[in-house]
Amino acid sequence: MKDSLMTASTEKTILRALRGEAQHTPPIWMMRQAGRYLPEYRATRAQAGDFLSLCYNSDLAAEVTLQPIRKYGFDAAILFADILLLPQALGADLWFVTGEGPRLSTITGPDGLQALKGKDDIHDHLAPVYETVRILSRELPDETTLIGFAGAPWTVATYMIAGRGTPDQGPAHALKAENLPVFEAIIDLLTDATIEYLSMQIDAGAEVVKIFDSWAGSLKGEDFRKYALEPARKITQAIKERHPGIPVIGFPREAGDGYIGFAKATGVDCVALDNSVSAHWAAQHVQVDGCVQGNLKSSHMVTGGQALVDETRAIVEAFRGGPHIFNLGHGITPDADPENVHLMIDTVRSV
Ligand code: CP3
Repeated sequence: MKDSLMTASTEKTILRALRGEAQHTPPIWMMRQAGRYLPEYRATRAQAGDFLSLCYNSDLAAEVTLQPIRKYGFDAAILFADILLLPQALGADLWFVTGEGPRLSTITGPDGLQALKGKDDIHDHLAPVYETVRILSRELPDETTLIGFAGAPWTVATYMIAGRGTPDQGPAHALKAENLPVFEAIIDLLTDATIEYLSMQIDAGAEVVKIFDSWAGSLKGEDFRKYALEPARKITQAIKERHPGIPVIGFPREAGDGYIGFAKATGVDCVALDNSVSAHWAAQHVQVDGCVQGNLKSSHMVTGGQALVDETRAIVEAFRGGPHIFNLGHGITPDADPENVHLMIDTVRSV
C-alpha cells in the first residue's frame, strides 16, 4: 500500500495523465518544441550542416531535444528526428529542399515496392536515432518524460508515393484507386516496420510513443477505418504486447468526427487534438474515453498577448474534468516568438 502511494506521488505528470488521472495543472509540452523559432536550435543545426545531418548526429540531436527543456521546463521531451527517416531506412532516397520541404524517390507501382527493404532491415540505418534516445534517457531531468515517435503508415505512405508533401494527398489516393494490392502492401510494410522502429526506441529508453497521422483527415468513411484506425490499432496492440505499460498517443490530425471513438477503436491511451475541433466539443466527445492532448492554435505563438492567455485558460478549463496534456494543435512555426512560449506555460501553470 505504502509502495503504491509513493509510486503515485512521484510518478511523472505526463504518465499520470496517460494513466487517466485528471490534474488541476495539466502537464505541458509542445509539438516541434525543438525547432527553428529557437536561435539555439538554428545554431546547432548550422553546426550539423543541414537538417538530416542533425537528425543522424546523436549528440547534436540530443542537444536540440534538451534545449527547450532547459529553457522552458516542459514536462516532456520529444526525440528529435523526423517521420521520414523510416522510409529512408527502408531504402527510399530522401533530401530536404530549403524553404520547400522534403523530397523522396516516388513509388508508382510494384517495382517501387519491390525495391524496398524488409521490416527487420532498418535498424543499422536508424542506429543513430536509438543512440539519441539512449543519451536523452541519461541526460533528461528525472521529472521529464521522454516521448519517441513515428509517422502513421498512411501519412508516411503519402510522402513515399508522391515523393513530397501534397495538399490533398492526391498521388496516394490515386495509387489506392489504381493498384490496391501495391497500396495495401506499402501500408502493411510500414505498419510492421513502425512496430519494429518504435519497439527499438522503447528499448533505448522512450517512455511513451506517439503516432503522427498528419494526413488522416483526407481518409473518409471506410478508408479511415482501413488505413487510419486499423494500422494504429495493430501498432498499439503490438507495442502493448511487447512493452506492457508503455502508453501510446495517437494523432489522427483533421479527423473531425473520426476523433470520436478513436481511442476505443485503436487502444491508444491518449488522442492528440488539432484545431479542427474545439476543446469544449472534444471534452464531451473524445475525453469521455480517456486522456486528450492539445489543442492551442499555433498562431498564438506568433501573435501572443491577451488572446493567447484567454484561449490557453479556456482550454485548460474545458478539459479540467478529465485527463489532459496541454499542447498546441500542430507544430510551433518558425516565425513564433520564444517569449510567447513562456507566456503560454506561465498561464497553464497559474490557471
Ligand atoms: O516535434 C518535435 O519537435 C520532434 C521532431 C519532429 C520533427 N518532425 C522535426 C522537424 C517530429 C515529431 C516531426 C514529425 C513530422 N515530420 C511530421 C508529422 C507532424 C506534422 O508536422 O504534421 C511530418 C509530416 C514530417 C515531415 C516533415 N519534416 C516536413 C513536411 C518538413 C518540412 C516542413 C517544415 O516545417 O520545414 C519537415 C522538416 C522538419 N522536421 C523540421 C523539424 C524541426 C524543420 C527542418 C529544419 O530545421 O529546417
